[in-house]
Amino acid sequence: MVLNQLEELASKASEELGKVSDSKELEAWRVRFLGRKSNLTQILRSLASLPLEERRAVGARANEIKLTLETSLEEKKRELEEGSVVSLGMVSLDVTLPGKPFNLGRLHLTTQVLEEVCGILGGMGFQVAEGPDVEWDYYNFEALNMPADHPARDMFATLWIDYEKESGIRPMLLRTHTSPVQIRVMEKSRPPIRIIAPGRVYRYEATDATHEWMFHQVEGLAVDKNITMADLKGTLFEFARCLFGKDRKCRFRCDYFPFVEPGVEVAIDCFECGGTGCRLCGNSGWIEILGAGMVHPDVLRRVNIDPDVYSGFAFGIGVERIPLLRYGIDDIRLFYANDLRFLSQF
Ligand code: PHE
Repeated sequence: MVLNQLEELASKASEELGKVSDSKELEAWRVRFLGRKSNLTQILRSLASLPLEERRAVGARANEIKLTLETSLEEKKRELEEGSVVSLGMVSLDVTLPGKPFNLGRLHLTTQVLEEVCGILGGMGFQVAEGPDVEWDYYNFEALNMPADHPARDMFATLWIDYEKESGIRPMLLRTHTSPVQIRVMEKSRPPIRIIAPGRVYRYEATDATHEWMFHQVEGLAVDKNITMADLKGTLFEFARCLFGKDRKCRFRCDYFPFVEPGVEVAIDCFECGGTGCRLCGNSGWIEILGAGMVHPDVLRRVNIDPDVYSGFAFGIGVERIPLLRYGIDDIRLFYANDLRFLSQF
């Protein structure tokens, strides 16, 4: 009778143990099958009241079962503790360890500034146009009033990529400025034209703290009837105010570029010293940020736009200059050295 009861109890206990999935359930199981009020304990306590023969058999079996249940309990406990360790072949993986954080990417500083510049000019009604980095001599120089052997070509140290042996002509190059996009746009469209052309430009130059062989420009071009120097000044003043704040001063001075007449150089008062002169501005108090001017009549004529009817202005902004000044970065080479310690600051 009691023996039957014991066997039933043993199989029930092991069946229930199989369903246990956490330590709380395991404790409940222990109380139920091994606790002071459990059937097993009660049977063991009441052994004395059994007839001698039965007492021996029941006692032996009950103790056996108790031992088995206790062993199973320990085993289950260990199993649950190790449960957080998942086995993957030979490697065991502790899923409770903290994970490795993902590095979030971001836009390159230059891209951020390009977007800012294009955002400001886009807001004024300029549309984005593009041209190739690998450019013909014709667009980079010839059509911009710099025929072969024109001394102004020396302003642009050029990376040539093609060379025609017989004629000695070097027709292909990496564009030295974004101005060739002016020609490409005017060839294909008629005034009114209002475009900006952001992009990379290249110069055959040894790199140092202030020179890179590749950098970015944003070209601007507006062609229409009655466009005057006042429009150019108004546009660039407003641009400078949007970019650098309304208190920055802006300076226009004469400059020479073969494709504009008159040509100007635009500078803003130095951030660092406020105009008194420092290392950043080369003691002048001013920092040049762009070249500009009224589109040369010969340039318009070449693309069949009548300079007696139409006029235009153009400008070319040095993009890296802007963050260089804004953040006081003292070496332009940092921009393209792919050093995350630098890049992730912006
Ligand atoms: N393309 C000139 C440069 O790279 C800048 C410029 C653009 C000047 C448009 C005048 C008009 O130096």
